[in-house]
Amino acid sequence: MGKTHSMLKRIAHLQERALSRLSQVGSLEALNDWRIEFLGKKSDLVTIQKRIRELPVEERPSVGAHSNRARKTLEEALENRKGELDKLRLDPLLQERIDVTLPGWAVGMGSLHPSTQVLREIQSIFAEMGFQVFDGPEIETDSYNFELLNMPANHPARDMWDTLYISDTVLLRTHTSPGQIRAMKAFCPEPIRVILPGKCYRYEAITSRSEVMFHQVEGLAVGKNITMADLKGVLIEFGRKMFGPKREIRFRCSHFPFTEPSVEVDMDCLVCGGSGCSVCKQTGWVEILGAGMVHPKVLENGGYAPEIFSGFAFGMGPERIFMLKHGIDDIRLFFRNDLRFLGQFE
Ligand code: FA5
Repeated sequence: MGKTHSMLKRIAHLQERALSRLSQVGSLEALNDWRIEFLGKKSDLVTIQKRIRELPVEERPSVGAHSNRARKTLEEALENRKGELDKLRLDPLLQERIDVTLPGWAVGMGSLHPSTQVLREIQSIFAEMGFQVFDGPEIETDSYNFELLNMPANHPARDMWDTLYISDTVLLRTHTSPGQIRAMKAFCPEPIRVILPGKCYRYEAITSRSEVMFHQVEGLAVGKNITMADLKGVLIEFGRKMFGPKREIRFRCSHFPFTEPSVEVDMDCLVCGGSGCSVCKQTGWVEILGAGMVHPKVLENGGYAPEIFSGFAFGMGPERIFMLKHGIDDIRLFFRNDLRFLGQFE
């Protein structure tokens, strides 16, 4: 009798547990798992039914009837739940039910892209020196990108800028320098003090230092009596504000067709402090920008008389500046959209 009693108790308990679990089943997949667990060949119910034959003959019918009733109850409950889930699946209104008591999802905070951060920093340093922002188009004409910058067709210096052409006369600007002509035409005959930030494109091999798309910030000042000393003063001030008061800046002779004289500006290497490392190619110096006094022909192309006006211009790569500042050794990280990189500069 004791064995029969315990079997009846197990059946009742099993039924209760199965029904309670069924109420939590939320998908047809989970419902199938439930069916296998509680009604399948290896379920407890089937094990109990197999063991009925171990009971005394007179007690078998009662336990058999109980287990059959439990099976029927569970099968009916399964069918009902299946119907409910089907209805839920087909009825969009029921699917969209909202449980307003559930806790909300935490909203992940975004952050500014490193290029945007450094562009804003550059803009604010130059704003303090009285430079305003002037925008130029990314799709340019050959004329603005080259000719008006003193590089007529077939000029060998054009090779310095590997160009993506859209047609014979239209191209993706290779530098922000065409903005110099646009700014001069817009301001002439007034004095100018502008910076021109924006994207540039070059048909170049992508390396750890060079991308096909990157930013530049052009600077241009035009007025009376502007000299190379003004250019030096502005760039030294920029270098110290951007990288710290102890930084050394070096001006090195260079050549650009649109400036005369032309210089490249180096800063003592932040990584090794000037003693030489792989970042500065063992020289102790890292190039940060190109610059010079605006060429008389370019002033003329912008509408300014070179006998009366003079000016300086410079062009820098903000990604390279950001890399130097943060010890980043691969420019490709900027445009890979990898949050593990971007998230470090929130
Ligand atoms: C120029 O593009 C000149 N227009 C700069 C200039 C302006 C000179 C005004 C004189 C007066 P350059 O090709 O060296 O020069 O590019 C200037 C800066 O842009 C570089 O120092 C570098 O920081 C950045 N830069 C150039 N090419 C790439 C590239 N492929 N990827 C990332 N940054 C680049």
